[in-house]
Amino acid sequence: MISRAAIAGWGVCVPEARLTNADFEGLVDTTDEWIVERTGIRERRIAVEGETTATLGIAAGAAALKQAGITPEDVDLLVVATTTPEQPIPQTSAFVHEGLGLRCGAFDVGAGCAGFVYALVAGSLLLVGGALERVLIVGAETLSRILDYTDRQTCVLFGDAAGAVVLEAARGDDPPGLLAWDLGCDGSAAELIQMRAGGSRMPTSAATVAAGEHWVRMDGAEVFRRAVRLVVASASATLERAGVGAEQVDLFVPHQANARIIAAAAQRLGLGPERVAVNIDRYGNTSAASVPLALAEAADDGRLHDGDLVLFTAIGAGMAWASALLRWSDCPGDANGRALT
Ligand code: UT7
Repeated sequence: MISRAAIAGWGVCVPEARLTNADFEGLVDTTDEWIVERTGIRERRIAVEGETTATLGIAAGAAALKQAGITPEDVDLLVVATTTPEQPIPQTSAFVHEGLGLRCGAFDVGAGCAGFVYALVAGSLLLVGGALERVLIVGAETLSRILDYTDRQTCVLFGDAAGAVVLEAARGDDPPGLLAWDLGCDGSAAELIQMRAGGSRMPTSAATVAAGEHWVRMDGAEVFRRAVRLVVASASATLERAGVGAEQVDLFVPHQANARIIAAAAQRLGLGPERVAVNIDRYGNTSAASVPLALAEAADDGRLHDGDLVLFTAIGAGMAWASALLRWSDCPGDANGRALT
């Protein structure tokens, strides 16, 4: 009998407010045509006053708990992945923990856009190795709060959102859940996506604010060049570890950074568009929220079935990357002889 971490529930929260590509035409020197052609993005959600990383994360987490049919008391651990924390101290998970009324431990994961998949793997391994029954993983972002809306190279790309999953221990001879994973980081490329000020290296001062050092900056072209290669390498390593061929993957849920990166990576992996989850057109790049957002949409659309193999891959600041291969279950509790309510 072995134990694996299976997804037992999912939830999302996206702000109501939208910014379309046309809205950017009045802000910076860009066009709807350029944005759609080069990124696949048509619109993105933007948090308004009162909406924060934690409020979005709390709403997504609550939806995931509800869908899994569990209460806050049932959660043994909370992990929040974010690049846009609620505030520098304390960690965002403390706010999400309080908002959800949890009683368990909680910590943050900072791995840029790969944060959710990192958290999924870390939470799964703690669950399996730590005799936990349920772990809540949240990816929540308000990228709009760190964007320079005069920088056309970044401001058109990102959006705000949160997504969450409940991981539950599934036991049996070959239970559903996490089968294989790959985590990586190339710190020599750390300058490719960064917000330079506000930390130990460059503390906040009037000068850093005046110099625009508190906005996120990205060498998009260089990130693009590396992204396709790294996504393919990480996804392939994960499949190899699981002894699974790409033709057996039922759904590929990649980080939604750019429709061209997704298409190129999927093509190199041999995955046709019918097996790829893409929603970047409506949400843009939501960093650590993008994978759970795309997963939830695919699940809600009935694209996932019992026994399906689901492959996640994400890459971002750091540069950090992460992949995970899971066997989906419509009701992981059944593997333990107990149906979820
Ligand atoms: O989630 C974290 C990981 N992030 C990513 O994976 C992002 C990866 N990078 C990308 O998605 C793409 O590199 C971008 C979408 C950021 C840029 O697309 P690109 O095809 O790589 O364009 P580029 O940076 O090579 O720029 C081409 C041209 C430049 O003009 P010149 O120098 O050729 O005259 C840019 O200044 O496009 C210009 N440009 C724009 N034009 C209109 C850059 N941004 C814009 C814009 N509107 N918003």
